[in-house]
Amino acid sequence: MRSEDTPLIRLEDYRPSDWLIDTVDLDIALHPTKTRVRALLGMRPNPAGQPGAPLVLDGDELSLGALRLDGLLIDESAYSATPQKLTLHAPPARRFTLMIDTEIDPSANTKLMGLYRSSRVYCTQCEADGFRRISYFLDRPDVMSVYTVRLEAAKLAAPVLLSNGNLVAAGEVPGGERHFTVWHDPHPKPAYLFALVGGALDHVRQNYVTADGRSVELAVYVEPGKAGRAGWAMDCLVRCMRWDERVFGRNYDLDVFNVVAVSDFNMGAMENKGLNIFNDKYVLADPQTATDGDYASIEAIIAHEYFHNWTGNRITCRDWFQLCLKEGLTVFRDQEFSADERSRPVKRIADVRTLRTTQFSEDAGPLAHPVRPRAYKEINNFYTPTVYEKGAEVIRMLKLLIGDGAFRAGMDLYFQRCDGTAATIEDFLACFAETSGRDLAQFALWYEQSGTPTIVASGRHDAAARTYTLDLAQTTAPTPGQPDKRPVVLPVALGLVGTGGDLPLRTASPAYAGDGVIVLDQPSLSVTFSDVAEPPIPSLLRGFSAPVRLELDLADGDLLRLFAADSDPFNRWQALQTVASRALVAAGRDATKHNALVATAGELAGALGDFLRVQAPADPAFAAQVLRLPGQADIAREIGAHVDPDAIHAAHRGLSVEIGLQLGAHLLVLRDILNTQARYSPDAASAGRRALRNEALGLIALSAPDAGAGLAAAQFSSADNLTDRLAALAAMTLVPGDAREDLIARFAQTYAAEPLVLDKWLMAQALIPEAGTLDRVKALMQHPAFSLTNPNRVRSLIGGFAANLTQFNRADGEGYAFVADIVIALDRTNPQVASRLLGSFKSWRMLEPGRKVLAEAKLAMVAQTPNLSRDVADIAERTLA
Ligand code: PHE
Ligand code: ZN
Repeated sequence: MRSEDTPLIRLEDYRPSDWLIDTVDLDIALHPTKTRVRALLGMRPNPAGQPGAPLVLDGDELSLGALRLDGLLIDESAYSATPQKLTLHAPPARRFTLMIDTEIDPSANTKLMGLYRSSRVYCTQCEADGFRRISYFLDRPDVMSVYTVRLEAAKLAAPVLLSNGNLVAAGEVPGGERHFTVWHDPHPKPAYLFALVGGALDHVRQNYVTADGRSVELAVYVEPGKAGRAGWAMDCLVRCMRWDERVFGRNYDLDVFNVVAVSDFNMGAMENKGLNIFNDKYVLADPQTATDGDYASIEAIIAHEYFHNWTGNRITCRDWFQLCLKEGLTVFRDQEFSADERSRPVKRIADVRTLRTTQFSEDAGPLAHPVRPRAYKEINNFYTPTVYEKGAEVIRMLKLLIGDGAFRAGMDLYFQRCDGTAATIEDFLACFAETSGRDLAQFALWYEQSGTPTIVASGRHDAAARTYTLDLAQTTAPTPGQPDKRPVVLPVALGLVGTGGDLPLRTASPAYAGDGVIVLDQPSLSVTFSDVAEPPIPSLLRGFSAPVRLELDLADGDLLRLFAADSDPFNRWQALQTVASRALVAAGRDATKHNALVATAGELAGALGDFLRVQAPADPAFAAQVLRLPGQADIAREIGAHVDPDAIHAAHRGLSVEIGLQLGAHLLVLRDILNTQARYSPDAASAGRRALRNEALGLIALSAPDAGAGLAAAQFSSADNLTDRLAALAAMTLVPGDAREDLIARFAQTYAAEPLVLDKWLMAQALIPEAGTLDRVKALMQHPAFSLTNPNRVRSLIGGFAANLTQFNRADGEGYAFVADIVIALDRTNPQVASRLLGSFKSWRMLEPGRKVLAEAKLAMVAQTPNLSRDVADIAERTLA
């Protein structure tokens, strides 16, 4: 489809459906290539719709069998059916039933939307609009129905048959080879939350009694033989259920809750009512096949999908423009859960890193869009860091602005008032306006305006008057379609740090909201604090209180003092990041500034030396974050124009090497101190020790390659867990030579039967910052561990390569050519994965002219390819615009 011919769907064009579907009775006979679907829909006219309107049901690649109205076959003149649409020209203006027969081929479904097979398991993915690939339907989230689902399949092929809700019947089909189950979900839901699973699966189960007394059977289903890896997910599930009871007063509402892991999945996981389906990467864990990072992601995603039961399912979205209503809020909830389960500051730092790398870069490029987009051609392209992560930041700011009490009361009101409905951002915000007594009209701009605001701050101390005046100004650069920006509401959490710690904040300024927060809601303002005897160092945006860039001209010395003395752990971390980032930006912009890096390294190493010796052993997870420099992509974004990836890489490497050299002995001692642990345990404290130890290993490998390679090889051999093995491999990839190639080969042998571990192996190689990497990646595409049909494999190898700053952006353009060719090839089978991969080009405009021309040419080549999917055509078009 040519993208110009694709209709643009606009928020302002929303109209309620003319028809509603109260009940859905599905009868599905699973077969690898000929699955029969019979849908019995209980229809009625929507009082809010147009009387007498035709009934137009959505379809996608469907073919219609029989069609009956109130049990009688309909005359062919009364309807028309295409693969995309089933239209009843003049349906009766009353309740009636429609029975629709379709037949589908799950084995041929390579898009992984609708009903498909993943290593012989039948499964579904219906968000956002996949249900229409199963049956003709009003496939929109504001049409909510009560589902009863009968599933039938061959007993041997699919002993497990699951759907949403509670199991109400099961039995044998006469003949002996097939069996069936019947599921009923009493909670009305949109079609995107429908799911089924059929296959031979093992499981672990556990009983759970909710705070309000409901007994729930929990189960986690995995591939046969892998039940031993399901325990962590179950543990996470139980913990997050308790947390939601305690923190949000939310109880689970069915008698069963099933989680199923499948190996082919376009996204992370899906919150289908009572039947969450997961990418197996976010379920399976044991010490030998999952890293600490995997354990943490599993915890976060199990919680995320579970939390959707209230924020997403019980209260769903009126239309897909409201996607952030469920996603931003649910990300906020899962982030809070992880913060409570682990270290809050470390979780915040990790989340801010992700936000800057993924969302800030989106906001800074051609794909920038508001948290609530106004228009789309393909909704699947809007499951973005902006909707998810920035959407969560908006909730976090709301909580900070109105306070914990009004926030919790607002959530309670939202759950009470909107339960069972398909809601909007306006419905949501109204609850908080009510409980806080605030006017949230300007705050709502966060949902409408794209782009990352910049706060420019400066301060003046008046010794005679004993005052300190802080000047704050905000600007937001234009983004596509939004040339003029308005000021947003920015909560700036702050402290004034004096020699003895935080000074008391005394001011009569109306912008000061108390509790250390200034609200900047105008283009600029000044706040004067009194009784300030000494010149303080401002510590602004504590805890990253707003998703913005901050420009504050502090001397390195002041930043180093903040690192040593700030009471806010986030800003301690940020202080060193800022010192490093400024030097990297200067050297990345102008290679003659490279020498200045040595001085910066000296400052950083000076601060780090004491810190590593004295404080790091007490909080290794935090220390690991401190030791890690800002990412290269973040430096590129800060530079913003005429970006030379090689110069950035050289600066980054140069600074790391210099820090490593200066810290030398400290790093070795630190590794020894942290090496006293017993057997592997995935808890946050143990994970923190490994993180710091491995961060040190990386610096050693860069600054003392021989010593680093030796340590890495030894660690690989002696480790009892994947975290340390993978860190050894990653460190070794920094050191070219035979030892590296040996370790790469050993790793592949060790994990030959573990696709998810080999994904990490593929990615580690794809990220090597050397000219040989492109050929290596091409060769790896022929490796048995790789497959273009499995999204995890593609994301690891090809996605990893596209995230390799210097090699994707090779000066000869071969990196762009390679990725563009794969996008085109992949688009024929899996448009969603292809369009995400094409997103790697989003920063092309900030490159230096040579690379820019080459990247643009490849984008244009993609855009001009005939028969592109809507997904890829949309991204190509917007990226080039
Ligand atoms: N709704 C899922 C989540 O965030 C993500 C998803 C979207 C999965 C679309 C599949 C398809 O929890
Ligand atoms: Zn979600």
